[in-house]
Amino acid sequence: RTARFTLDPSFTVGDVDPRLFGSFVEHLGRCVYTGVFEPDHPTADDRGLRRDVLALVRELGVTVVRYPGGNYVSAHRWEDSVGPAHERPRRLDPAWHSTETNRFGLSEYRDFLRKAGAEPMMAVNLGTRGVAEALELLEYANHPSGTALSDLRVAHGDKDPFGIRLWCLGNEMDGPWQTGHKTASEYGRIAAETARAMRQFDSAAELVVCGSSSRSMPTFAAWEATVLEETYDLVDHISLHAYYWPEDGDIDSFLASAVDMESFIEAVVATADHVGARLKSSKRITLSFDEWNVWYLPEWVARSKTFQPDEWPEAPRLLEDGYSVTDAVVVGSLLIALLRHADRVAVACLAQLVNVIAPIMTEPGGPAWRQTTFFPFAQAARYGRGRVLDVRVDAPTHETRKYGETALLHATAVRAEDGSVTVFAVNRDRTEPLPLEVALHGLDVTRVVEHSALADADPDARNTLDDPDRVSPHPVPGTTLGDGRLTALLEPLSWNVIRLA
Ligand code: AHR
Repeated sequence: RTARFTLDPSFTVGDVDPRLFGSFVEHLGRCVYTGVFEPDHPTADDRGLRRDVLALVRELGVTVVRYPGGNYVSAHRWEDSVGPAHERPRRLDPAWHSTETNRFGLSEYRDFLRKAGAEPMMAVNLGTRGVAEALELLEYANHPSGTALSDLRVAHGDKDPFGIRLWCLGNEMDGPWQTGHKTASEYGRIAAETARAMRQFDSAAELVVCGSSSRSMPTFAAWEATVLEETYDLVDHISLHAYYWPEDGDIDSFLASAVDMESFIEAVVATADHVGARLKSSKRITLSFDEWNVWYLPEWVARSKTFQPDEWPEAPRLLEDGYSVTDAVVVGSLLIALLRHADRVAVACLAQLVNVIAPIMTEPGGPAWRQTTFFPFAQAARYGRGRVLDVRVDAPTHETRKYGETALLHATAVRAEDGSVTVFAVNRDRTEPLPLEVALHGLDVTRVVEHSALADADPDARNTLDDPDRVSPHPVPGTTLGDGRLTALLEPLSWNVIRLA
């Protein structure tokens, strides 16, 4: 009962794009207000950003931050979010039934990114708006000066252009819940024309067209095919969104969520390549998995039904899921799935960053802390840089309700430029440890630098306001490397990072 695989630098998947470790800040609940931005907080800087949150975002290692939505963007008016903060209009946000003050806007977002050390990923509104407004935003944000909108930005105090390269052409336009929802051909047309116009302004723009908002959408795959037929030559990436939660208490299937994520990725790749073949194109569309996470979605659906039609709160507590050890192991496994497809997934965003289904939580006026899911993300973002090695697992299996026979081990390995290797591995067995043996061929590593695991006798343990450090990774003794063989014992229900140099 041992799990095995072989690592050989001749067999690789592809290079990791650092943007695989992106995240997402939406004007939703308390992600922005009392999350990243809280001018009255004791740690706030001169722009109102919480320094305690910024420190955690940097520790998390986020490389790119998608903004401002999400569902929010589909009724968003970008011009509301610029200029003197006290003059910005208050608006009703239909997506989250909230009042948006616009106190945090484009300039604050750029400032946040600079301090967090991350790149922008800006979504344009293709729900209630179209080509003209996307171009206006592009000119405001990126043109140096000398035109009405670029000079307006300068007058607003932002002399330097924002230099936004990565743009999302709307959000989840296949979803009937989306403001301005469209059919695939309606969306394909507006996305194509928006992309064409944006490229006329900025040929270097990198564009993400909307794929399906989940693999279970009735239009999945047909949507991608129709949209890409319109946009293939005009865009760079197609988006995927996926959220996982334990359905009917079925934890074993939940722990195998990455099986779904991997086949979702493979299905989108197949669909995109099919369109490419039909168009006789040598171009390859890459994937932007720009929303993924564990999200207890049924709880949100139930909560949303209790909204009072005349109540439009400011920054209410929404989607504030508290994550357990089990959730963190699933998040680790989803990170492994993304790395295993690094050849086609160029961008990925953990949705979201603070308070809203997030690795970082805050209390208004109070502390910020790391959820359990913080740790696998931070470790993957730090050590998952380089070239992904092709890992073919030979492991014991068990039966899951949703996915049938499933391997107990989920793993990948990344070789850094300096030759060091990091193995990321999840043991999906909830009760038994899993012995692991890795044969190493042609790798110049001689020692185990560290074996760290996230596991706990209580799989429901979580970090809370009252007990913020209850769960964190611990060192695992006994992992050895000798005669080209790595041996380790993976604790039951665990996320593991084994670093070799
Ligand atoms: O991340 C929360 C929401 O999930 C986003 O606003 C939307 O795009 C998705 O449905």
